Amino acid sequence: MENVKTENRDGVLVVTIDRPKSLNALNAQTIEEIAEAFDAAKSDASVKAVILTGGGEKAFVAGADISELATMTPVTGKATAEKGQKVFAAIERFPKPVIAAINGFALGGGCELALACHIRIASQKAQLGLPEVSLGIIPGYGGTQRMARLLGKGKALELILTGDRIGADEALAVGLVNRVVAPEELMATAEAMAKKIASRGQLAVRAAIEAVMSGSEMPQAEGQLLEATLFGLLASTDDMREGMQAFLEKRAANFQGK
Ligand code: COA
Repeated sequence: MENVKTENRDGVLVVTIDRPKSLNALNAQTIEEIAEAFDAAKSDASVKAVILTGGGEKAFVAGADISELATMTPVTGKATAEKGQKVFAAIERFPKPVIAAINGFALGGGCELALACHIRIASQKAQLGLPEVSLGIIPGYGGTQRMARLLGKGKALELILTGDRIGADEALAVGLVNRVVAPEELMATAEAMAKKIASRGQLAVRAAIEAVMSGSEMPQAEGQLLEATLFGLLASTDDMREGMQAFLEKRAANFQGK
């Protein structure tokens, strides 16, 4: 892959979007390569968690590639949005935890990409926003929907309608990111969190992602039915027996993902 690099660090796959000359802007090829990286990671049993980050010093991802978008027609525009939505939905529903390590600008499609991840950790240098209206368009990779669900309609509309960028501390205050750390601590913090999650029962982690992500799109009673079903299903796993036995024996659990 040309624009996306992957590195498996002891079970944590670091996926780096690496087009620093364009501030890692998402052209069609990069979107395709992100899809490929996640497809491969899904079936790779050695991958227990994924960290998504941006190459270079300045940007996580500065948005969809404006030089490509500039030539879109109604037909190609719809297809472009649908493709991005599909790839980002696969990240949101990924069965292993996905952490965005936001190292700089996360604008437009970059902010939408971060929103599709399960957890967002930002460097103090990060700036986030959905500036699409200043280009005469709206977010097209799920941003209007995910931002409103995460922040509430009021704050989401303020950000989407003004197109303003906000810094990491404000992003933390409004709930757009989970945590803010010094730039030099970003990757270590993301890796520590990824490893902690990877040390838990993997089948339980997968079920928890499904319960939260699928459940949040259902009426609460249906979401709770899904929760109860997944809860019951986990009783069939060796990991459940191991987790509870380890607690009773006052030792650390050794989960096998079975
Ligand atoms: N698409 C394509 N190219 C982009 C890009 C994008 N979304 N964002 C940045 N780039 C390119 C710039 O054109 C520039 O290329 P050049 O060196 O060939 O001129 C390079 O990346 C560096 O960007 P530059 O604007 O010079 O950096 P800056 O530090 O002055 O500003 C930003 C940084 C992020 C504020 C600014 O690049 C920007 O506003 N980008 C667009 C953000 C956006 O609107 N995203 C939503 C797209 S839907």
